[in-house]
Amino acid sequence: MKITEKEDNESGERYLITSALPYANGHIHLGHCAGAYLPADIYARFLRLNGKPTLFICGSDEHGVAITIAAEKEKVTPKEIIDKYHEANRRAFERFAMSFDIYSRTSHPIHFETAREFFADFLRKGYLIEKEEEQFYDPVADMFLPDRYVEGICPNCGYGQARGDQCDNCGAYYNQLDLIAPKSLISGKTPTVRKTTHWYFRFDLFQEAMEKYLESNSNDWKENVVQQTRAWLRQGLKERPITRDLSWGIPIDGIENLPSDKTRGKVMYVWFEAVLGYISATKHLMSILAEKGLGKNFSWEDWWKNPNTRYYAFIGKDNIVFHTLLFPSMLIAKNEGFIIPKNVPANEFLNLEGQKFSKSRNWTIDLQDFLQSFPEDYHIDAIRYALATNLPETKDSDFTWKEFKTRNNSELAAILGNFVNRTILFIQKNFDGKVPYLSEEFENLPSQWNRLISDLKLNKEIVPENYKPLESNEIDLAKGLVQSFINATLNITAFKIRDGVFEIMNSVRFANKYFNDEEPWKTVNSNPAICSKTLFVCSQLLYSFALFFAPIIPYTSRKLFRSVGKEEHCGDQNFGEPSENFWTKIFEFHLESGTPVQSFGILFPNIEEKVIAMQIQKLGKSPDEIKEEKRKNLISYQQFSTIQLRTAKILEAEKVKNSKKLVRLLIDLGTERRQIVAGIAEHYTPEELIGLTIVIVANLEPTKLMGIESEGMLLAASTDDGTKLTLVTTLSEIPPGSIVK
Ligand code: MF3
Ligand code: ZN
Repeated sequence: MKITEKEDNESGERYLITSALPYANGHIHLGHCAGAYLPADIYARFLRLNGKPTLFICGSDEHGVAITIAAEKEKVTPKEIIDKYHEANRRAFERFAMSFDIYSRTSHPIHFETAREFFADFLRKGYLIEKEEEQFYDPVADMFLPDRYVEGICPNCGYGQARGDQCDNCGAYYNQLDLIAPKSLISGKTPTVRKTTHWYFRFDLFQEAMEKYLESNSNDWKENVVQQTRAWLRQGLKERPITRDLSWGIPIDGIENLPSDKTRGKVMYVWFEAVLGYISATKHLMSILAEKGLGKNFSWEDWWKNPNTRYYAFIGKDNIVFHTLLFPSMLIAKNEGFIIPKNVPANEFLNLEGQKFSKSRNWTIDLQDFLQSFPEDYHIDAIRYALATNLPETKDSDFTWKEFKTRNNSELAAILGNFVNRTILFIQKNFDGKVPYLSEEFENLPSQWNRLISDLKLNKEIVPENYKPLESNEIDLAKGLVQSFINATLNITAFKIRDGVFEIMNSVRFANKYFNDEEPWKTVNSNPAICSKTLFVCSQLLYSFALFFAPIIPYTSRKLFRSVGKEEHCGDQNFGEPSENFWTKIFEFHLESGTPVQSFGILFPNIEEKVIAMQIQKLGKSPDEIKEEKRKNLISYQQFSTIQLRTAKILEAEKVKNSKKLVRLLIDLGTERRQIVAGIAEHYTPEELIGLTIVIVANLEPTKLMGIESEGMLLAASTDDGTKLTLVTTLSEIPPGSIVK
């Protein structure tokens, strides 16, 4: 990506981004999000903000044994499974602010057509060969047992729960029949072996092409991606069966040149067709756009068969060879000018509180559940930020709720939220809620600032005197901002998104430092011209941070754009249209003096200990267990009615001598007057209290506080740390002594 403004869109350069198509067999969890989704979204938004024509493609993978096993488990049809989870995941992704240009599905007719066309083409070209082979068969269920339908001991590492043709423990792929001690997942019995006909893809023919492909890209690719791909090439690419005996999938029946007596009950191997899902999803999108008269009249081929397209396929580490070897071989085999991935930024896995994500052990956080427990826009930004700062880019990483809380409270709130809040409050209090006007001596500050930013980006030697009226605080600020900007841009471009995010947050640290160093709370009286200048600079940064943070926390970014009344540019989906480059202009000044500045309240409310404690408690427990636990803590109405709550009017209030916290109250309970002592002196003055109607526990045993008798206890709500407290009062007039129930 360019650091400076000169652009080269004329070359027709464009970007195609895909995220692995998730199986529609269950809910997406946060581990998935950190793997192939959030990083791709940040990248896509980043490209769009850079003005690059970008298409971001995803959808559900709806075939294969993953789906049929889920259907058997839930005792419904595969169709019901895919419809349910496709919709659930599509919605959760949308709320999570994934900016897909389309979220399609491999059950779509366009996809069937595309996959069958590839199959027919490969058959015609001799890339598919028919073979009779032995396969595990379950005589009880009367079916073949492809892929995950058998479990056994891995022939490579000895792991006890290896699946049909792939080991989750060591990552090896092998012939099903090599599995040791195989067991049918349907009947639990040892399967028999039967002959069946399948079609094999001549993967071996692409050995050389793939070696060249890897070596010409290995400098840019991540270490894990290069290693795995190289290991496969070292073993030599082998013919691989791409059909299965299954009723669920894309049938091969009726494909030209296939012997019809042998194709019945056979479908394509899920991986063979799923990778083509990226192409069919693009076709699907283009057909929708054409229908709606939207978009630029692009065709899908403008993306997939265009040498100017840079294609990046975001995936998790268990998908590597399918994207670095199988898919590229297929695209080359088609021989129609298809592009192949320029990079395959595969992430490692995210763990959860020190353990692997596991649905069966309930050791998971489904995105959908997260969104239910944390429904606000700022919560979504908080989880996006927390995941982005902890992406498993080079090794597995660990998500903890404690870290989620810290990222929110100590970074989003304490750094970004703080800067925004103090700037807006100061402007509202002292500048009538508008970007301040500059006095004459600072008139050309904006042009000097923009010149400084541009010179810093060009790495010019900076002589501060040449940038008057900017002073050393502004020069330091500009240096910090540009440094963050350059580092963030370079890191994100190189798929080091975690480091990029760190740099983006760092830029706000410079802004807070500037605010502190300028001490506007002093200059507002001692030197108003300087104070205006300081807040002029700070308010410009509201817009800068709206742009800079947009790829990571788009909801907050939108608020910031609105706070300064500017059009929102968050790198949202735009169907491949090029746009203006906003990214390179982030730290220039854009706001006129007099622009109204609005507050949208606290950007990131504190996340309290008890909130995350509850989440931690849920881990490892089934929904039934959680329900049961809640039930155990319930009390009966009988138990509740033993507590007498009554309204009371405060007649007198005075601070207790030698105590910071205690107040002595005289209250009217209708039938009597009582004295109570309450720990609210830090939150209310005695004057504020007199006359209020509050709620007290009327049948509490009397006690003494600092030697003063207290006959009852008032009700108040307070935060965990006690910094905030508010009394429970009544909404309208009611006589003292009224029963509260
Ligand atoms: N459904 C697969 C998974 O979740 C990924 C498929 S990626 C695709 O692991 F390219 F094949 F679509
Ligand atoms: Zn293994």
